Amino acid sequence: MLLLTGATGLVGSTLLRHLLAEGTAVRCLVRDPRRLGAQRVRVQIALGDLTDPPSFRNAMRGVQTVVHLAAAIRDQRRGSIEELDGIATWRMVEAAERQGVERFIFFSALGASTHHRTRCLRAKAVAEQAVREASLHTTVFAPSIVYAPGDAWLTLLERLALLPVMPVSGRGRALYQPIWAEDVADCVIAALRDPGAERHSRYELAGPQTLSHNDIVRLLLASSGRRRPLVNVPTPVVSRGLRLLERAMGERTPATWDEAELMEVSMTSARGAADAERLGVVPQKMAAVLGSD
Ligand SMILES: NC(=O)c1ccc[n+]([C@@H]2O[C@H](COP(=O)([O-])OP(=O)(O)OC[C@H]3O[C@@H](n4cnc5c(N)ncnc54)[C@H](OP(=O)(O)O)[C@@H]3O)[C@@H](O)[C@H]2O)c1
Repeated sequence: MLLLTGATGLVGSTLLRHLLAEGTAVRCLVRDPRRLGAQRVRVQIALGDLTDPPSFRNAMRGVQTVVHLAAAIRDQRRGSIEELDGIATWRMVEAAERQGVERFIFFSALGASTHHRTRCLRAKAVAEQAVREASLHTTVFAPSIVYAPGDAWLTLLERLALLPVMPVSGRGRALYQPIWAEDVADCVIAALRDPGAERHSRYELAGPQTLSHNDIVRLLLASSGRRRPLVNVPTPVVSRGLRLLERAMGERTPATWDEAELMEVSMTSARGAADAERLGVVPQKMAAVLGSD
């Protein structure tokens, strides 16, 4: 049995489809099973929350492999980014060790470090450390930005593209190597098939092109057939504006400063697509996936 957290998210829903196609028995730790859509009848469901350790301890009974994807890039009512992305992973690893899980697969992010400018990538670094120190077999995936047509991020950009000018937070010069969610899922499947000899392995998942935030926005505009001038909104204006919006709208806010800040920090791997290729996956170019080649 494989326990999957984050199965309702971008990577999780794609990976779940691949796992089920392979005939893997999957248990999903979810807050709301309805968000699994049609897949909910094909999996075991464990109701749980990253802020509720007994829930994931129970969910690990009889599990050989944990794939831990659940994470948050904004604070939740029950937990901060630090609790959800850092401490929860540490607790999850501890629970896996106690329950006799054999293998723990964790999603970090490229560039995570304990002194990173963003809260999310600081928390991911703490989590990675806990995974590295675990007594079980672990695999860490550190992706650049992951996307799929119709995902929440590209949908937000498409909505902004309806405006007469296209706003971009900051100077738009941060660099990414976007990787398609389908390629990410293929990498996880390959790693599941071949655990390798090392006790702890780590793969940086990057697409074949290095693109700035501005380049990605231009690519999206091209794929949706819209011509819009890009307007780079100074960081202090974005930060103040989003913080005011958060105060006014609370949880319903369409974007938070913590989320916007992630688009101001580069997420690249010096190895490019080499780690994905080592797993037998040749990641596609973003332009090809979005149909703007
Ligand atoms: N997408 C990227 O560009 C990117 C880049 C680098 C690293 N990563 C990492 O890759 C992993 C997958 O990313 P993703 O883009 O697929 O994430 P996502 O689409 O934002 O999905 C997040 C998932 O976590 C679950 N979740 C959030 N809070 C939870 C809580 N308190 N308890 C239980 N589950 C909770 C969500 O469930 P609900 O349906 O209940 O909300 C959802 O299934 C994450 O660890 C992320 O940090 C992603």
